[in-house]
Amino acid sequence: MTKTHAVTGAYGYSGKYLARRLLAKGHRVITLTNSINRKNEFGDKVKAFPFNFDNYDKLVESLKGVDVLYNNYWVRFNHSLFNHSDAVKDGITLLKAAKDAGVKRIVHVSITNPSLDSDLEYFKGKAEFEKTIFDLDIPHSILRPTVLFGKEDILINNIAWSLRKLPFVGIFGDGEYKLQPIYVDDLAELMATHAEMTGNHIVDAIGPETFTYKELVNAVAYAIGIKKKISSMSPFLGYLGCRALGLIVGDMIITRDEIKGLMRNLLYVESPPAGKTRLTDWLKENADTVGIKYTSELKRRKNRNMEYDSN
Ligand SMILES: NC(=O)c1ccc[n+]([C@@H]2O[C@H](COP(=O)([O-])OP(=O)(O)OC[C@H]3O[C@@H](n4cnc5c(N)ncnc54)[C@H](OP(=O)(O)O)[C@@H]3O)[C@@H](O)[C@H]2O)c1
Repeated sequence: MTKTHAVTGAYGYSGKYLARRLLAKGHRVITLTNSINRKNEFGDKVKAFPFNFDNYDKLVESLKGVDVLYNNYWVRFNHSLFNHSDAVKDGITLLKAAKDAGVKRIVHVSITNPSLDSDLEYFKGKAEFEKTIFDLDIPHSILRPTVLFGKEDILINNIAWSLRKLPFVGIFGDGEYKLQPIYVDDLAELMATHAEMTGNHIVDAIGPETFTYKELVNAVAYAIGIKKKISSMSPFLGYLGCRALGLIVGDMIITRDEIKGLMRNLLYVESPPAGKTRLTDWLKENADTVGIKYTSELKRRKNRNMEYDSN
């Protein structure tokens, strides 16, 4: 049966893969976005509405008649242009508007190991979103990914870029902390599947392979055929190196909180895989393109008309 599905950020990364899948299923798709004029592949197949966080009635209006809201709204770090606390406030407003508009189900993208007690704003903020969803009592699925990979990816692409361009690559500390990357289109499939479910679900949205960070860097190096010195360094020194490089490429490459999250094993869970695509296979298939160009988070935020780069 045709339903109306609202996707946040359908012109962005995971939202684009999801919108493709929903359109293929014959659903009506709308998007709520901060980047209403971003170049995209959908044309008039996906109608775009601004978030209207400062006009609650308008926000509710844009969600009227929506069966499923997919929420991936989030900001990665604090910056002069945006910050976590606004994203949490705005995201909670969006969830409340969905309830008031009569949205029947929410599929929400969170993070592995969210915690209201965390000193890391990313993990705390994601837990606050989840709590809001529980409190609102809208039927929901909460999907908790670790790192996504795909053509528009940032982390893994930029590891490959560093391996290609820099004289040596550093890893934070011993590199023995783990992560379980999921392919972006596997996450999109999971989201679309969860839209059709009833009841409430929480799923760790992890891929089929677990890597230590060191193994991940080595897997990328192996796939692109680069032999390079990979050195352990103190997390603080590694952060300073990334800050300096960030000034050159005009981006925030990684934050201290992101390094802490990684090193505390927060991107690792002991759950069965939810995605089927192996990063090592994907790297093999994309070895000629991954990391050829640096992918900048800040460029995406500053230029709201440009399509997300893909490698
Ligand atoms: N990418 C990963 O590796 C990863 C890992 C774990 C969890 N996640 C979670 O997965 C979800 C989707 O991630 P994604 O990479 O696919 O995100 P994305 O497409 O880049 O952005 C998703 C949504 O958030 C908005 N947004 C992102 N950064 C923003 C900023 N700085 N200021 C204002 N709005 C911002 C986007 O705005 P526009 O509408 O303007 O596009 C879009 O609506 C997020 O909730 C993220 O926390 C991602």
